[in-house]
Amino acid sequence: MLNGYHYTGPLPLGSVVAHNCGAAGLFSSNTDADVKLSAVEYDDMYILTVSIRGVEHTLTGSISSLGRRSIGQSLLVLLRTEQGLPAHNEWGTMVGVRPTKLLHKYMDQYGSLEDATRHIRDEFSVSMEKLEVLSKIGRYQRPFLGDDSPKHISLYCGIPFCETRCVYCSFPYGLYQDYPRQAEFITALLKDIDDVRSICESYNLYTNTLYMGGGTPTILGNEDFHHLLTRLATLIPEGREFTVEAGRPDSITVEKIRSMQHCHVNRISINPQTMDDTILRRIGRGHNAQDIDYMYQYVKKHTDFAVNMDFIAGLPGQEIKHMMHNMDYICHNLPENVTIHTLAIKRGSPLYDLNMQDDVPEESVVRHMVQYAKERLEAAGYVPYYLYRQQYMRGQLENIGYTLPGKACEYNIQIMEERQTIMSMGPGGSSKWMRPPLYRQKKQHMPKDVDVYIDTLTTLLDKRHALCKSFWEVV
Ligand SMILES: C[S@@+](CC[C@H](N)C(=O)[O-])C[C@H]1O[C@@H](n2cnc3c(N)ncnc32)[C@H](O)[C@@H]1O
Ligand code: SF4
Repeated sequence: MLNGYHYTGPLPLGSVVAHNCGAAGLFSSNTDADVKLSAVEYDDMYILTVSIRGVEHTLTGSISSLGRRSIGQSLLVLLRTEQGLPAHNEWGTMVGVRPTKLLHKYMDQYGSLEDATRHIRDEFSVSMEKLEVLSKIGRYQRPFLGDDSPKHISLYCGIPFCETRCVYCSFPYGLYQDYPRQAEFITALLKDIDDVRSICESYNLYTNTLYMGGGTPTILGNEDFHHLLTRLATLIPEGREFTVEAGRPDSITVEKIRSMQHCHVNRISINPQTMDDTILRRIGRGHNAQDIDYMYQYVKKHTDFAVNMDFIAGLPGQEIKHMMHNMDYICHNLPENVTIHTLAIKRGSPLYDLNMQDDVPEESVVRHMVQYAKERLEAAGYVPYYLYRQQYMRGQLENIGYTLPGKACEYNIQIMEERQTIMSMGPGGSSKWMRPPLYRQKKQHMPKDVDVYIDTLTTLLDKRHALCKSFWEVV
């Protein structure tokens, strides 16, 4: 495999190079790059020289978005071939992370799902199989995207802490038990929540969905969790979609489940990732398969929560038999939602940093697992309802959320398709204000660093107020 790339040249071509190198599994590296790329503009053309371990290739294209795309496509094929991978995968030359967002854009443009799908096939050479998934998802999602009122919003509250670090994850800020300013963090988050409530009241907003995510929100102590949840519940009337990421059963207590019931939460995630204990130990989860099952049965017996379960295909040491076992469990228990992720090897994760990649299964094995999961889930009555891709995914595959009919988590659709305003509370979250018909965005990113979040919160909230004013006062 090729490890890294380094690019010098014009900026617009640089972002295309970054996308396609990422899609081929390469990280940018100033010091240790197997692939060195340099580009110049000459006579209305880009000339890109790609040196792969000293062997040079030249790619050219016009100085236009079409020319850049064509270079990007040739680069992806070259990098895949050099790594002994099939030149084209099922996604053809599509490297974007939100294929369904593109599908909806073309549906608006051409007026039908069939024409939009055809356009994607012709433009990106996407396989028939992926087109079929895209069109199923497009059809399922469409009714959720018809609401054009800019005053209908979704809300997100993020807790960027966990109790242990899973080896594949680059996500959380840190371990909660090691964080010295816990009380200040809770105070800041309560202030952030109260501020969003005042915005909702001032502009008379309608909260469609609320998602408390992470990290691991259930890492908080029983009292802090209850306190935060009670305050969040003031942002959404009972009966609307209110989800809590409760992915790690080792962090859940009966008290926290009661708090969720009391605060009219109606969806949670309980995430096995795999039902194999040996793999669970290797990836650093703090639970085993039995803990997952115990939590799932408890929740189903004592609450009305809809349950999502996350799995990952491509974990170290994972074989097809493990995915068969996962799907046996799911098809027996039938949780409302199941999400099948494909392993992405992310910089900043222990899997990448500690060079633990040797046991990660081959691309073809991961593809088999993903396909197997799809067939089992569809045979059991699940339908795919949202999809996204990430860079550095094994086989450049995708993550797909499946649902039993009528049980989809609407927040997942809104966050992916970017047609509804989403305001975010907590460190690391992004707020996006969206207005039809073009769904252009105003954005605000909260700092990922929790200390910076706490220390600059007043300024951040002032900025959010200014963005809200400029957006809703002209509605
Ligand atoms: C943001 S995480 C939060 C979930 C929760 N903290 C947990 O681990 O149960 C959402 C999901 O993304 C998936 N995920 C995280 N890192 C991944 C990676 N590197 N590759 C593939 N999937 C990943 C996992 O399935 C995880 O449950
Ligand atoms: S996968 Fe979830 S629990 Fe594990 S480190 Fe990442 S956010 Fe935390």
